[in-house]
Amino acid sequence: MIKVITYGTFDLFHEGHYRLLQRAKNLGDYLIVGVTTEAYDQTRGKLNVVDSLVTRIENVKKSGFADEVIIEESPGQKVNDIKKFHADIFTVGSDWAGAFDYLNDYCKVVYLERTKNISSTMLREKNSRIQRIGIIGTGRIAERFVPEAKLVSGVSTQGVYNPHWESAVRFAGRWEIEAYSDLEKFYGAVDVVYIATPHETHYGYIKTALEHGKHVLCEKPMVLYKRQAEELFQLAKERRLILFEGIKTAYCPGFSKLLGIACSGTIGSIRNVEACFTKLENPESRELTDRVYGGSFTELGSYCLLPVLKLFGKDFDDIRFDAIHGENGLDLFTKVSLTYPTGVATATCGLGVKSDGRLLISGTKGYLVAEAPWWKTDYFEVHYENPGQVDKYTEHFLGNGLRYEISDFLSMIEGNDKNGFKLTRGESIALAGIMEQFMQLEDRRDEDMGA
Ligand code: CTP
Repeated sequence: MIKVITYGTFDLFHEGHYRLLQRAKNLGDYLIVGVTTEAYDQTRGKLNVVDSLVTRIENVKKSGFADEVIIEESPGQKVNDIKKFHADIFTVGSDWAGAFDYLNDYCKVVYLERTKNISSTMLREKNSRIQRIGIIGTGRIAERFVPEAKLVSGVSTQGVYNPHWESAVRFAGRWEIEAYSDLEKFYGAVDVVYIATPHETHYGYIKTALEHGKHVLCEKPMVLYKRQAEELFQLAKERRLILFEGIKTAYCPGFSKLLGIACSGTIGSIRNVEACFTKLENPESRELTDRVYGGSFTELGSYCLLPVLKLFGKDFDDIRFDAIHGENGLDLFTKVSLTYPTGVATATCGLGVKSDGRLLISGTKGYLVAEAPWWKTDYFEVHYENPGQVDKYTEHFLGNGLRYEISDFLSMIEGNDKNGFKLTRGESIALAGIMEQFMQLEDRRDEDMGA
C-alpha cells in the first residue's frame, strides 16, 4: 500500500484544494491530510484565516479523498509524521516547489501543479473589503500600531487625526499616510478608527466615531467610568458596530494558551491569582504628571486585572486598593486585592516602584507561573508538589503583539465572532468599573489632603 501525505490550511475550501487532494489521493492508496491549527498559522504570519479548525477539517473530509486527517501544529512535525505513518510520498502544490526538497531523505517529494486563479487569499479579499483605518493620536502607541497593521491583510492605514496640525503632518509624513486636523473630514475618509490618545479623551472620540458609523478599536483603559462603558457598548450595539478594547495581552496566542492550561484542571481548582506589572517611568512623563488621569493604576491596571477577571470572573465579593503616592498625589505603586467565593487575587502595578513582574496562578494541584513580560506571553511553566516535575510551555509572540488584536478586531467586523470571548463586553465594563472605584478613592484622598 502506498501512503501519501499532504498539508495545508484549507481555509474557505475551494476548487484548488479539491483538485490537489484528488491528485494527491491518486498518487497512492491511502491519503493522510494534515490541517494546520490556528496557533500554527499565526506563527507563520497567517493571521486572517476565516474558517475554524473544525470547519476546515470537515471540509477536507467532505472532499472524500482523505483516509485520515491529522493536525499540524509545528514546523518540525512533517518529518516525524512521515516516519510515524510510514509515508511513501509527500506532496503539496507547486507554489511550494523546492521548499520541501529536504524531505527527499525520508520519502518521495512530489509538487503538484497549482490550480490557476484561485486561492484562499483571493477569496478572503473578495469576501471582505479592505477596511481603511484612521488613527486618532500621534503618540508612542500610535507609532507602534502602523507597522503592525501592515502585517494584517484586509486593512490599510489611511490617515491620522490630531487637532494639532503640525503633529498630524509629522506623523503622516513618517508613515506616508494622510494628515487630518478636521474630525469631520477624517471620519469621512475612513471606515474604522483606532484611538490612541490620553485616557480621558477616549470617551468623546469613541462616541463621535460610533455616531459617524465607524467601528472602533480603542487603547486600554477604554474608559474610566462604568456607565460610560455601558453607554458606548449600547450605542455600538444599536448601530451594529464593533467597539473593541485593545488590551493586547488578551489577544496574544500565548496568553490564550496560558488561560487554557490554567483552566484545564492541570493545577486543580484555582485559588489564588497574583499579577504584577511595573515599569519605571520618567517623573516628567504624562503618566506621572497628569493629576487627574495619570498614575500607575490607570496606566497598567488593565493588564494586571485581565488574568484575574478571566480566571475568577467579574463578581468579586470585595475589593481593596492600597497605594503609595508621589509628592503630586499620583499613585506610584498600587496593589488591588480582590476576594472571590473560591479564591483571592492581587493586581499590582507601579510606574515609580520596581518589583518582580510575574503572573502566578495557584491551584489545588500545582501552580502556573509566567515571568515578566508575561503580558506578552511566550513562555510559562507549571510546577507541582514534586519540585522535580515542571511542565514548560512556549508560544510565539511576534513583533509588539498588536497584530493579534488588529486581526481579531477585523474578523469581528467581518461578522466572525470566534474571538469575542477573549475580552468580553462584560469584562471591559467591569474593568471600567474598577478604574472608577479607584479614581473615586483617590479623589476622596485628595479632598482629605485639601488638594
Ligand atoms: N493549492 C493548489 N491550488 C490552489 C490553491 C492551493 O493546488 N489554487 C494547494 C496548495 O499548494 C497546498 C494545498 O492546496 O498544497 C493547501 O493550500 P492552502 O495554503 O491551504 O491554500 P491557498 O489557497 O494557497 O491558501 P492561501 O491563499 O491562504 O495561501
